[in-house]
Amino acid sequence: MNQFRSTSKAPGSATERLDAGAAGLERARAILRAGGVVAFPTETVYGLGGDATNPEAVARIFAAKERPRFNPLIAHVADLGAALVQGGFDETAHTLADAFWPGPLTIVVPASETCSISDLARAGLDSVALRVPAHPLAHELLEGFGRPLAAPSANRSGRVSPTHPKHVLADLDGRIDGVIEGGAAEVGLESTIIACLGGSPRLLRPGGIAREDIEDALGKKIEDDLGSASAPRAPGMLPSHYAPRAEVRLNANEIHSGEASLLFGHIQPRGVGEAKAVLNLSERADLVEAAANLFSHLRALDASGAATIAVSPIPGRGLGEAINDRLRRAAADRD
Ligand code: TXA
Ligand code: MG
Repeated sequence: MNQFRSTSKAPGSATERLDAGAAGLERARAILRAGGVVAFPTETVYGLGGDATNPEAVARIFAAKERPRFNPLIAHVADLGAALVQGGFDETAHTLADAFWPGPLTIVVPASETCSISDLARAGLDSVALRVPAHPLAHELLEGFGRPLAAPSANRSGRVSPTHPKHVLADLDGRIDGVIEGGAAEVGLESTIIACLGGSPRLLRPGGIAREDIEDALGKKIEDDLGSASAPRAPGMLPSHYAPRAEVRLNANEIHSGEASLLFGHIQPRGVGEAKAVLNLSERADLVEAAANLFSHLRALDASGAATIAVSPIPGRGLGEAINDRLRRAAADRD
């Protein structure tokens, strides 16, 4: 009867391609109800969704991603009402939800007594990370499902986040039950994460909503709590979390022969003619466009086979903070 309840997804068996209409979404919900895992579009990146209240479903997410288990996952809900069932919102959390939901902001709050999100999804923490995504397909999926969906980015652990169903399939075909074919994700960066755990709010991860916009909404500066490389505050922010296979060299004003070149703006670094592959995040130096291109360009340059991706300097303002954060992680040494 319930084909997903007792067995994990058999590696190598087919991943269902689900169309973005009503029938595809209903099929996705049936798989999710049965404890399966389905990749779906959000406005940031594709998420690998599983019923957050079902620890077996959550375990399948970790298994499919080969993700270290100590990472708590973001629980996605349809609206603020559903979020309030799961977590305790102080005044700041309410202000942020009013200003940015639905949208690319995740709010970490204390878990409430009525919280149904499994311990595994919370990695044993007494707090919970909640997000109301803005993508219409994500919204429709969640509203009809009626439970929170745990959904990290739909890539294998340590690889770049997918912004298109073909990226999802490149990493996870045969390892997940389904993927909703909903086109390209718009923002291209994961959500910004803010903790509201009493005291002043803290920025745990820069992302799709710029710090300046959050500070405007709150009428004050926010403190960082990014942690250290060895003990990151948001446990998913391990230094190599966003690493492509190639080495990444930052602030490159010169390209060495055989390197792939990731440009920003119109400045051509010396030696770019010798590059193995060249892509530009944004010729017109637009940070929003650059964010949308970041993961797919890294992926494409990685696929060129170059041993190193040399990245041109990128300004730190607005979404540039999150882009540079991702690139620094991609450049970090891995072991
Ligand atoms: O844009 C996004 O946020 C995407 C899309 C799919 O929605 N999702 C995403 O989820 O990036 P995930 O699970 O890859 O990111 C979870 C991040 C990790 O850095 C994790 O450590 C942090 O959220 N996190 C989750 N729960 C937390 C908690 N209770 N306290 C602190 N950090 C938490
Ligand atoms: Mg990820």
